[in-house]
Amino acid sequence: MQQTIDLTVAFVQDRLKFAEAGHDWWHIQRVWNNTKLILQTEQADHLVCELAALLHDIADSKFHDGDESIGPRVAGEFLESIGINADTIDHVRRIIHNMSFKASLGEVNFHSKELEIVQDADRLDAIGAIGIARAFNYGGYKNREMYNPKIKPKLNMTKEEYKNTTAPTINHFYEKLLLLKDKMNTPTAKSLAEQRHQYMEGFLQQFYAEWEGKR
Ligand code: ADP
Ligand code: NI
Repeated sequence: MQQTIDLTVAFVQDRLKFAEAGHDWWHIQRVWNNTKLILQTEQADHLVCELAALLHDIADSKFHDGDESIGPRVAGEFLESIGINADTIDHVRRIIHNMSFKASLGEVNFHSKELEIVQDADRLDAIGAIGIARAFNYGGYKNREMYNPKIKPKLNMTKEEYKNTTAPTINHFYEKLLLLKDKMNTPTAKSLAEQRHQYMEGFLQQFYAEWEGKR
């Protein structure tokens, strides 16, 4: 298993060399660490979870003209090239295809304990201090406004609307980040999410106070 993990780490680090800072190798490393933390209290296939964590953003559709098949395909081809068995590859591919917030807005017809764990691990990295940093980095990368009081957040967006939004970054908190704590699957992630969620609430209060020039 160690050799498989080492080869996968090297592959991912190379592929993500020029990635946006919210979706780079460090994001993957944090998600991998979250996965291992959750695995301490969950019964699941460790190899599947770790491979899915490492490969989940290898070719994110939002950086590939919306193509949602490319991530699972690139991951699968890599795993075949290092001789991983077909069942493991198939499971990792399905996890990658189904784990994103975007995917959860569409029709989801695959479930597994391993998907739940890696999805939690990824969602934990979207909230708290890191979540705030990632959101503004992504907004900057897309040249979005930080905040515009005239543009209200849009709840219950369809998958297409969510993909095509150009709203200010603060809206993303209401459209996704603040919703994540109630979507956690495992007890470990639920308890970590609680504290990270409070931190974001505090950040937003401070942000609005400063925006309005209050002392
Ligand atoms: P997924 O790919 O899991 O469906 P996203 O790509 O929307 O979900 O989210 C991954 C991360 O990218 C978010 O947690 C956030 O940090 C950043 N991000 C995505 N969309 C936005 C946005 N509209 N504004 C700010 N950050 C965003
Ligand atoms: Ni991710």
